[in-house]
Amino acid sequence: MKVTVIGTGYVGLVSGVCYAEIGHEVTCIDVNQDKIAQLRKGKSPIFEPNLEELMNKNIHNGKLQFTDNYLDGIEHAEVILIAVGTPCKQDGTADLQFVESVAANIALYIKKYAVIVIKSTVPVGTNHYIGELIKKNLVHDTDFDMVSNPEFLREGTAIKDTFNGDRIVLGSDSSKALAIVEELHKQFNIPYFLTDTRSAEMIKYAANAFLATKISFINEIAKICEKVGANVEDVALGMGKDKRIGEHFLKAGIGYGGSCFPKDTKALVQIAGNVEHDFELLRSVIKVNIGQQQALIEKAISYFGDLSEKKIAILGLSFKPNTDDMRDAASVVITDKLISLGASVIAYDPVTIENAKKILNPRVTFNTNINEVMYDADCVFILTEWDQIKQIDLRVAGRLMKNPVFFDGRNCFTLEEAQRAEIDYFSIGRSAVI
Ligand code: UGA
Repeated sequence: MKVTVIGTGYVGLVSGVCYAEIGHEVTCIDVNQDKIAQLRKGKSPIFEPNLEELMNKNIHNGKLQFTDNYLDGIEHAEVILIAVGTPCKQDGTADLQFVESVAANIALYIKKYAVIVIKSTVPVGTNHYIGELIKKNLVHDTDFDMVSNPEFLREGTAIKDTFNGDRIVLGSDSSKALAIVEELHKQFNIPYFLTDTRSAEMIKYAANAFLATKISFINEIAKICEKVGANVEDVALGMGKDKRIGEHFLKAGIGYGGSCFPKDTKALVQIAGNVEHDFELLRSVIKVNIGQQQALIEKAISYFGDLSEKKIAILGLSFKPNTDDMRDAASVVITDKLISLGASVIAYDPVTIENAKKILNPRVTFNTNINEVMYDADCVFILTEWDQIKQIDLRVAGRLMKNPVFFDGRNCFTLEEAQRAEIDYFSIGRSAVI
């Protein structure tokens, strides 16, 4: 099948590469010429396990190409996928300007029937609105259909998720278009869930909001665990054994970040507000998440009394492991706050430092050597559970530091490991080891 993917961000690039891998002829379009030049050379603009290898394989076998020219990409496409960003506006609503601009280009260049699929996360009603927009501006007399196909891949495991998803959600009022998009995904061998367009759009927001709710819920339980002497890791495991609850997304920590949960939860509150519903529960989820980013700082203040002049080593900057994405990473808020409290901050991350330099407070210094970062530090803050961080020898690390004190926002170590290493260890939802 001839497939065109518009937008080479996470969703677009990963989808394009995976469609090529299952045998389709894929053209990826992006307006950013530098990015296209880089992609043509086989260089991925994002750090994502296995992405670059698969990309190069499919460029070489002629299944995958990149262009900044809409005409080249749209003219022959049987399926056109829109995968551009829908960032958060100031008021929390999703900004549709990029989707609208893509719609204008499709209207200009589409010459024969194609299915237009929106993969971007868009407010309910957007497929209908974009369909009307294209219809109104069509230059050539042709027919097309819209399909909503929300994406559920996670950064860091995006390729794996694409090949092993739990379901492929497709929403449309055209059975012809649905059959074509089912055919497009056939080789993935993942069950379909077919529904109407608005429900498909809503499924994406509801799924992300529910996962965010699980995280804020367990973070609230963690706070209580600390006070009553329970261990949140065991509580989550014990809860998760109940199939109705499930064990995933019950990892307590310093809150959720990234390009999706913070944006999509705010957007859903707005969507609800537009129909005069106050989504109080989701507002609380967001509030709990913001508060959770302060958890380690509060622990450090109650330990040291005052953080001024303290040298704090930060381990992990990206919003989660196996990605170089810094969008809404807790490290941004935490390092800023530590600096405002007078601490000096030195940070380690195995892949994110270049991106972090563009975003973090300019007073943060960086080092790619994890031992050098911890050397002479008053304490360590663990913000991302990279393997490189989980594998540190706590006893050796403690000896490098001025004071062997760890504030672990990702519960990377067991309490027994901390005890054996003879360090002071504060984590989330568990008793302190002193
Ligand atoms: C999320 C969803 O999981 C995907 O299904 C969805 O496709 C994607 O958003 C999107 O809308 O595009 P992603 O943001 O890549 O994926 O990352 P997650 O693995 O969901 O993690 C999000 C945040 O939650 C991270 O900061 C992570 O550390 C945190 N988290 C996750 C927890 O604090 N506890 C958990 O138990 C799980």
